[in-house]
Amino acid sequence: MSNAMRMTRWFVMLLLLSLTGQGRAQDIAQGEQLFKANCARCHYVTDKRFVGPGLAGVRDRWDEEANLIAWIRNSSDYLKTGDSYATKLFEEYNGSVMPAFNLSDDEILSILAYVEEGVKEDPTISTTPDPLTPEENSDSNNTLTYILIGFAIILLILARSLNNVTKALENLRREKAGEDPLPDFKPDYVGRFVTWAAKNKKVVGVASIVIVSYLAYQGFVGLNTIGIYQGYQPAQPIKFSHKLHVGQNKIECQYCHSTVEKSRHANIPSANVCMNCHKAVQEGPQYGKNEITKIYASIGWNPEKLAYFENYQQMDPEEVKAVFASYLGDDKAMKEVEPFIQKPIEWVQIHKLPDHAFFSHAQHVKVGKVECTTCHGELAEMEEVYQYAPLTMGWCINCHRETEVQYASNGYYERLHDYYKEHKGEYEMREGQAFTVEKIGGLECSKCHY
Ligand code: HEC
Ligand code: HEC
Ligand code: HEC
Ligand code: HEC
Ligand code: HEC
Ligand code: HEC
Repeated sequence: MSNAMRMTRWFVMLLLLSLTGQGRAQDIAQGEQLFKANCARCHYVTDKRFVGPGLAGVRDRWDEEANLIAWIRNSSDYLKTGDSYATKLFEEYNGSVMPAFNLSDDEILSILAYVEEGVKEDPTISTTPDPLTPEENSDSNNTLTYILIGFAIILLILARSLNNVTKALENLRREKAGEDPLPDFKPDYVGRFVTWAAKNKKVVGVASIVIVSYLAYQGFVGLNTIGIYQGYQPAQPIKFSHKLHVGQNKIECQYCHSTVEKSRHANIPSANVCMNCHKAVQEGPQYGKNEITKIYASIGWNPEKLAYFENYQQMDPEEVKAVFASYLGDDKAMKEVEPFIQKPIEWVQIHKLPDHAFFSHAQHVKVGKVECTTCHGELAEMEEVYQYAPLTMGWCINCHRETEVQYASNGYYERLHDYYKEHKGEYEMREGQAFTVEKIGGLECSKCHY
């Protein structure tokens, strides 16, 4: 082969490589979108098991690409072919059903291309350190205060012991010199204070005024904070972590709090919802089997047989207990699981407005398009939920004064908005002024009070 030919071959190969590379780059971007929208709630692109298997290297596990595609499009249909690998997998995942997807071959191939690419760069592993939240900041302030108090105490002890040492030395000197030792000094503080106060009437007067006003102020602040539970963080019966579920596993709020866009209240998910995933996920990274078993005890899932108990509520509790005790193999853990047997999970309510106030999630989340984080903080960072906002009337009103209504997609508000613009003078809506919640009546008492 001549040098020229060799060069041309290299050149053609390079060209082909770069072309296919480009083609794939596009696929990968599309694949990433499709993956995040359809698959990420159950699969990782690494080999880590989630609700379904980790997808790293999945192509190698399937003989035929066509079968893999058919499986992804509709796994229930595919199982009917009796394919032994698929049947085994399905059984291994306790019969969890993967939903069917309306995806073309190309779209599925782009997802697979993204999965291959994604293994190198797992989006679920974040390398940036968590920024300090204000709470952590105030924690470190608290720590500083404790350190200072600690220092003060140590200094006091030091001063006292130094005092004792000098006294002992003085006594030693006196003993040598044949003098009497120093008397044990027990001062009459009260008596001395009274004589001192009698001599310094003005100082005492000013000090009393300061102290009395301080106490009154504290009382006033105390009264004003009655009924405010900002920061309230009760212990929950199961160590359920939003950080793990929302932050790490990227589960949408609405997956669990499914009524939040439809009704006034956001529901707390029932144990059935937990079981969508926890039939397969039986152990957690922090507590192993212990916490997840509480869900099983409540709902009646036999983690050894991988099936629900029959007539769970009518079973002999002792019989149930024996199953969980052998599954856990740990007396201490069993003690904690026992109260859940045949009982509903009793989550402790954190947020609670008084009965006379009306608040609707649907109105704020769906119509107003306010993010959950605005009112509840970064749940994705919370191991345990706490009340983030004060939930006072002033808090509601301030936001209504400042926040603009999302009128663009809402015919009624749009007309209202135009009406206000036409009647600028009457409604103090100057050009460019914000169309806030206040303008649609968000400060009227009757909107929030029955
Ligand atoms: C609701 C959860 C869920 C969703 C969403 C989901 N899967 Fe699955 N997937 C599973 C489970 C569970 C299995 C294990 C088999 C079974 O039980 O059906 C599985 C198995 C697979 C397998 C076989 C893995 C192997 O090791 O051979 C592939 C491939 C797959 N899923 C791809 C996808 C793709 C691509 C999407 C998105 C288009 C997707 N899945 C969406 C739950 C899900
Ligand atoms: C996997 C299910 C799940 C997901 C996903 C989830 N939550 Fe929760 N959430 C729960 C459970 C269970 C509780 C009750 C236990 C607790 O307080 O930790 C709860 C409690 C809460 C509470 C406190 C309720 C009260 O008692 O006042 C708020 C607020 C909340 N979630 C907001 C969110 C937001 C915002 C998101 C999304 C960023 C989210 N949750 C995602 C399951 C979930
Ligand atoms: C405008 C502020 C605001 C927004 C936005 C908001 N919440 Fe709430 N949330 C509240 C208030 C106020 C309460 C207390 C309601 C009560 O006691 O009636 C609450 C209570 C809850 C509760 C306890 C159950 C209940 O309804 O009382 C959950 C769970 C919850 N919110 C989840 C969410 C989720 C998930 C989102 C986002 C999809 C969200 N919230 C968005 C203000 C908000
Ligand atoms: C969409 C899937 C999904 C849902 C729904 C879900 N979980 Fe989880 N849960 C997971 C995954 C994934 C893990 C972590 C497994 C791992 O990282 O090893 C987990 C872990 C846990 C752990 C173990 C924590 C630890 O550190 O040991 C507990 C407890 C838990 N979940 C409780 C619940 C409860 C209670 C519910 C229902 C309110 C629920 N989960 C709903 C997917 C889910
Ligand atoms: C983060 C900002 C924010 C906070 C905090 C907030 N709201 Fe709102 N609120 C809105 C927005 C935006 C709308 C407009 C939604 C729409 O377009 O209908 C709204 C609308 C309302 C409405 C309907 C008003 C109308 O004229 O139809 C009521 C009632 C209401 N809020 C009650 C409350 C209560 C009660 C609280 C406090 C517990 C509260 N809101 C806290 C932003 C907020
Ligand atoms: C945007 C919603 C909103 C509007 C508008 C509103 N309130 Fe309130 N109000 C609340 C909420 C929420 C509370 C409960 C606050 C708490 O528990 O700290 C409350 C509490 C109160 C209380 C009880 C005080 C207390 O500390 O419990 C009174 C009285 C009251 N409001 C009167 C009014 C009057 C009068 C108006 C009209 C001028 C009005 N409110 C308008 C949301 C609103």
